[in-house]
Amino acid sequence: MCGIVAYVGPKEAYPIIIEGLKRLEYRGYDSAGVSIINGGMHTFKCKGKVLDLEKIIEQDKVHGTLGMGHTRWATHGAPNDINAHPHLSGDSNLAIIHNGIIENYSTLRTALEKLGHTFVSETDTEVLIHLIEEIRNTEDLPLEEATRRALTKVVGAYAIVVLDKNDPNKIVGAKNSSPLVFGLGEKEFFLASDASPIVKFTDKVIYLEDEEIITIHRDGDYEIRTIENEVADPEIKQIDLNIEELEKGGYEHFMLKEIYQQPLTIAESMRGRLSADEGWAKLGGMEQHLNRFKQAKRIVLTACGTSWHAAMIAEYLFEDLARIPTEVEYASEFRYRNPIISPDDVIIALSQSGETADTLAAINLAKSKGAFIYGIVNNVGSTIARTTDSGSYIHCGPEIGVASTKAFTSQLTVLTLMAIILGYEKGKISEGYYRQLLSELESVPSLVAKILTKADQIKYIASEIRNTSNALYLGRGYNFPVALEGALKLKEISYIHAEGYPAAEMKHGPIALIDMYMPVVVIATNKSAHEKIVSNIQEVKARKGIVVAVVTEGDHIIKGMADFTIEIPYIEEPLSPLLSVVPLQLLSYYIAVMRGCHVDQPRNLAKSVTVE
Ligand code: G6P
Repeated sequence: MCGIVAYVGPKEAYPIIIEGLKRLEYRGYDSAGVSIINGGMHTFKCKGKVLDLEKIIEQDKVHGTLGMGHTRWATHGAPNDINAHPHLSGDSNLAIIHNGIIENYSTLRTALEKLGHTFVSETDTEVLIHLIEEIRNTEDLPLEEATRRALTKVVGAYAIVVLDKNDPNKIVGAKNSSPLVFGLGEKEFFLASDASPIVKFTDKVIYLEDEEIITIHRDGDYEIRTIENEVADPEIKQIDLNIEELEKGGYEHFMLKEIYQQPLTIAESMRGRLSADEGWAKLGGMEQHLNRFKQAKRIVLTACGTSWHAAMIAEYLFEDLARIPTEVEYASEFRYRNPIISPDDVIIALSQSGETADTLAAINLAKSKGAFIYGIVNNVGSTIARTTDSGSYIHCGPEIGVASTKAFTSQLTVLTLMAIILGYEKGKISEGYYRQLLSELESVPSLVAKILTKADQIKYIASEIRNTSNALYLGRGYNFPVALEGALKLKEISYIHAEGYPAAEMKHGPIALIDMYMPVVVIATNKSAHEKIVSNIQEVKARKGIVVAVVTEGDHIIKGMADFTIEIPYIEEPLSPLLSVVPLQLLSYYIAVMRGCHVDQPRNLAKSVTVE
């Protein structure tokens, strides 16, 4: 959802900003732009990616040691050169970059037009810079004070950076709902949407809070004030992120790297959290609140996208293993449908980025009703991690590919662990089964590694079905949400229309779509419903559909029926999504690559959705 980076220090700002934008491009890539101050404000911007921006830069104009850059995911106004950021004030003295949405921009725009302002773009952001200009010029205020006063009139979400060409030693930033991080290096300072453009230079950061405005002076003085003009007392934090984690490490795409990292990342998600041999499992954030969980009348999981699919699997886990009534809610629906929430409820919010606007709003709603909120988040220090009452990080490292893979399996690892702990603590599973589940969970990394050795076979299947326009994904029980996730992966990166369905529901509609051109991917590993899945496959074959089946090793029955099979190792059913999703990730990846799609940056999508 738009990436922001700004720099002031002794070095050339432009290369640092461009490199930072490339790291932030996962947030949006509809257009890009930079402003560098050097005896004037030099602004370049265009539709397209950061690489397109580099082509239009006039090198002699981007020398300078203070500047900012933006990569956009369009909200107001089409992705084109004019709507690209930075936006300038009417007198061209000020420039702004913005991530978020100014909800009352239309009212503000009308009022400013009456005062003689004219606008060149369709964006809400341009309105904001004109508002700052108006206040500043009318009242002759410093930039930071004009920005603060302007923001008191704004309704909406923002992370902004504002520059003044006549003040080449100052950067002003502010945030509300959208993230903004201040990096404190050796005589150099940064503002960015996340720490990825900063880590190369410093590990000291301050995460700005909502409605805070920061003024950074070239000499290193900085001040953070609230929108009410009170001086804030921020805490400098140390970030634990290294630059290698942000590189592709020899893989063609981040998505492929992240799929292949899973044996490691799943292990990281459980490190120090269980020992099957010694028969214990614990999650720090849960331990302190175990009674809340044990006494919960209900668990409500809320999330968006792939995280929502992980939440759906958790519904099966919590009800099956811990016998706690569980519901799953799209955060965007939950927040607006006046849900019944009681203080006895435990709300679990899942988010890879920790910044998703709808998930954050759902958390705040549940909080206001007195519920206990547990976060399962990847991005350390993110807004959701800071807003929840307690939680567990999934520790899978930065996920850069827009289509989520390793975060999904790490979310599942933590959720599975939670359900096992609760099942045992509530006396709903035996000591023997508890130990067996822990032991099988410990074996997941090596089993995933085994599945990854089948990449060539999966690539071959991809080559056979890559020209399809539609695909159906079927699964039952624990593997129904995996079918949804498999279909989502295919849609996201290859633009093939795909639907996930509970296998038995197929006959109530989707069966009408099946013909000799329709690939039907069936997750057929469930021991409990094996015969029923066999019947579902027969129904597909009777209509000449192309069956790609993910089966348990040694399943000759389905192998004899399906057009293609991918065998995965046996594991207890509650743990099976951790394995069955992996071949589906690879299948989508190879199909997308074969179709020439931009796997890491699929069209119209963004990794972190900080607008509703
Ligand atoms: C976006 C991403 C998805 C992600 C979803 C939720 O739509 O493209 O990959 O699953 O947001 O994101 P979160 O960071 O909250 O897990």
